[in-house]
Amino acid sequence: MGKITAAITGVQGYVPEYVLTNAELEKIVETNDEWITSRTGIKERRILKGEGKGTSHMAEKAVLGLLEKTNTTPEEIDLIIVATVTPDFVFPATANVLADMIGAKNAFGYDLSAACSGFLYALATGSQFIETGKYKKVVVVGADKMSAITNFEDRTTCILFGDGAAAVMLEPSEEGVGVIDSVLKSDGAGQPYLHQKAGGSRRPASHETIDNKEHYLHQEGATVFKFAVTNMADAAAEIMERNNLKGDDIAYLVPHQANKRIIDATARRMEVGEEKVMLNIQKYGNTTAATIPLCLWDYEKKLKKGDNLVLAAFGAGFTWGSIYIKWAYDS
Ligand code: UT7
Repeated sequence: MGKITAAITGVQGYVPEYVLTNAELEKIVETNDEWITSRTGIKERRILKGEGKGTSHMAEKAVLGLLEKTNTTPEEIDLIIVATVTPDFVFPATANVLADMIGAKNAFGYDLSAACSGFLYALATGSQFIETGKYKKVVVVGADKMSAITNFEDRTTCILFGDGAAAVMLEPSEEGVGVIDSVLKSDGAGQPYLHQKAGGSRRPASHETIDNKEHYLHQEGATVFKFAVTNMADAAAEIMERNNLKGDDIAYLVPHQANKRIIDATARRMEVGEEKVMLNIQKYGNTTAATIPLCLWDYEKKLKKGDNLVLAAFGAGFTWGSIYIKWAYDS
């Protein structure tokens, strides 16, 4: 019997209908399309509207589509991992809420908090359950309703983020395809530069925290940019070196979509041309844990069995890393 690897056997995304354009943001804060486009690459983002709809609403749509696509019944799912920083509730986990919504009666589940690197952490974690041989169907979701924690009076952050969800199915393979290797890192010293100040146990919600707008995300963009641009490229370079991959061997770089300039720097370091870089930042902005699986969903039709993909991300924590995947199917 060959070594068991965790193969991605399907991917499905969901983005809300409402499109928030740069032109509309120009009416809300002091900004302009030229600044946003040249500094970030973003043209528009999706926003989830509607009372009482949380991250699980988008995750549900993505996972139901995934089940249909992979001919899977909800009862067959063993495990659901939801990577998110915008869970429906502080507790219980969005994964549990989601399992109930879709009828995954036999699954256990949990949330994983690693911000923009969340999908990479969840994919690496989920694949371990498959590799043991004990679990057959693991659903890994990256989903965030960033509009719930975005201050639309702060022009330095409100132009960046959007809402979305996407999910992959992991199943065992003995053909040497799937998740091959991962490099995952974190450094908690990065906490002050990108975080939500209140709402946790250190600073519970109060009139004061609301008045001070401490329930929104806070980012010191230039500092985060500096760390992101080096660390994301370093992680991608490390995984390539470890697996003897050259730029020519790679079918696609699948980067976290925070800033086009960070993506370009990573591609340059890997020596892959821009035609091999998955990009959807222009239409969705930064959807945090959802960016990478949304890219896989958008580019799925172009992927072929055996394609080498390098996923890379950097985010709050700080957290960062890279995963090497051999794509498991022809679309
Ligand atoms: O996904 C998680 C990880 N996050 C990231 O990777 C994000 C990393 N950071 C970035 O992508 C960039 O730092 C930003 C896109 C957030 C900002 O770009 P920047 O080139 O670093 O700009 P900056 O913050 O240094 O600001 C430059 C200028 C400032 O004006 P002054 O002080 O030079 O007069 C800002 O006030 O641009 C101004 N500015 C804006 N102007 C128009 C900031 N936001 C805006 C805006 N519209 N929306």
